[in-house]
Amino acid sequence: MILKANEVKHLYRRTARFYDAALLGYQLLGLDRHRQKAVAALALRPGDTVVDLECGTVANFPALVHAVGPTGQMIGMDLSEAMLAQARGLITRKGWTNAHLVHG
Ligand SMILES: C[S@@+](CC[C@H](N)C(=O)[O-])C[C@H]1O[C@@H](n2cnc3c(N)ncnc32)[C@H](O)[C@@H]1O
Repeated sequence: MILKANEVKHLYRRTARFYDAALLGYQLLGLDRHRQKAVAALALRPGDTVVDLECGTVANFPALVHAVGPTGQMIGMDLSEAMLAQARGLITRKGWTNAHLVHG
């Protein structure tokens, strides 16, 4: 099923607050290991810039932060303001000054 942009926005406006909590079950099944493998496959180096399209709540960022280091940059893009608000909260809590969000 393909959703239109306004349907995606509506879906994530309703679910953004619960998205990370909903991931916990998958994390118990090893989801983070798969995220780390995916990031490792990118062969990023310290100082690299990485763009995470459809970043959601930036669940990929913890592995990316480690890969690009403090001199690297992470840019997350998503069309859902609600998901970006969750992402912004995590970025602030973690103090990732090299993480940036784009709405689009
Ligand atoms: C299932 S979530 C995945 C989020 C994140 N990548 C992760 O691994 O947890 C899908 C995300 O893609 C975003 N999205 C879907 N279609 C998009 C589009 N055409 N442009 C930008 N973001 C989009 C949604 O708003 C949502 O945040």
